[in-house]
Amino acid sequence: MLSDTFGRRIEYLRLSVTDRCDFRCFYCLPRSHRAFETPDDWLTTDEVERLIAQFAALGVKHVRLTGGEPLVRKELEDIARRIAALQGIEELSLSTNASRLSQFAGPLSDAGVTRLNISLDSLNEKKFKTITGSRLQPVLEGIASAQAAGLTPIKLNMVIMRGINDDEVESMIEYCMERGLTLRFIETMPVGQGGLSASEHYMPLSEIEARLKKRYKLQPAAMRGSGPARYFQIEDSDLVIGFITPQSQHFCATCNRVRVSVTGDLHLCLGQEDKLALRPLIREGATDADIQAAIHSAIARKPERHHFGETPTAIIRPMSALGG
Ligand code: GTP
Ligand code: 5AD
Ligand code: SF4
Repeated sequence: MLSDTFGRRIEYLRLSVTDRCDFRCFYCLPRSHRAFETPDDWLTTDEVERLIAQFAALGVKHVRLTGGEPLVRKELEDIARRIAALQGIEELSLSTNASRLSQFAGPLSDAGVTRLNISLDSLNEKKFKTITGSRLQPVLEGIASAQAAGLTPIKLNMVIMRGINDDEVESMIEYCMERGLTLRFIETMPVGQGGLSASEHYMPLSEIEARLKKRYKLQPAAMRGSGPARYFQIEDSDLVIGFITPQSQHFCATCNRVRVSVTGDLHLCLGQEDKLALRPLIREGATDADIQAAIHSAIARKPERHHFGETPTAIIRPMSALGG
């Protein structure tokens, strides 16, 4: 079992399979970013399989595939299939921008991906383009394909930005109600240059919650997942909405997760820089026991919490490097 010095058990691993993305959401991956990892440094499919097997042996049960945008990694289907087959892995999920889902939702479901979280910040084509640099239509088609492939629940992630999309909360609620999707609101985080520039649009989700409570009756609800969202059901509907509040009400005390980058760095916290490079161990012939021991000792250093409020300029890497 993996647990840290604060008694938190680590059972959830977020694996970034690429730091590249076909979108340029300004709060995540600024257009000026050039320092992408080189393919020689990416963990290969074999290396991913071996590494995740070590985490599974240590008690990790849920793996989430992230990016950048995971669907731009050519080997994604194979990676998914191999992780899903590992002993101890009970759930394999994916966070995606959905731009390529029309083509891949079915194959990924066949490969063993059980559920999806999809980023969608606006239903307005022009605004969507301003935020992401890309087109809305393929994303809407991707969402429909994921539903047709039977991937449920599907959660839409909406990063709330004052003056940009805070006026779209109600239309997103309607969109999700009509389609049986779950909707989650996320506060901006000052990770990388993009995250920092989004800070001027930061809006505490308590404002959204208060606004919605005037219009709807919200009842605390449970929802499948391993992440930090707090869920509510809108009375007299099937819609479940979630609030992810890293800034206004951080959830570090119940953190159950670590992250691995495309180059095999084990990051102990999204909001801290401390990491352990696992790729050298794998490439220099370490045994499974060596790798497991290294993971164990790194987790013992897992920081108590992020410091977004106190030191908002601390994290230089873009959010896209770890996929959130
Ligand atoms: P579920 O299993 O469905 O609950 O997934 P999830 O919410 O963990 O995954 P997703 O990739 O959809 O992440 C949603 C948002 O939560 C993203 O903005 C993440 O950056 C954020 N998030 C997830 N884990 C952490 C965390 O440990 N710390 C912080 N600060 N944010 C997190
Ligand atoms: N702040 C908050 N959420 C972010 N995401 C990406 N960058 C940021 C940021 N700076 C979200 C994406 C995606 C999820 C995995 O992380 O919108 O839905
Ligand atoms: Fe790409 Fe996701 Fe970052 Fe947007 S939030 S740039 S879709 S990795």
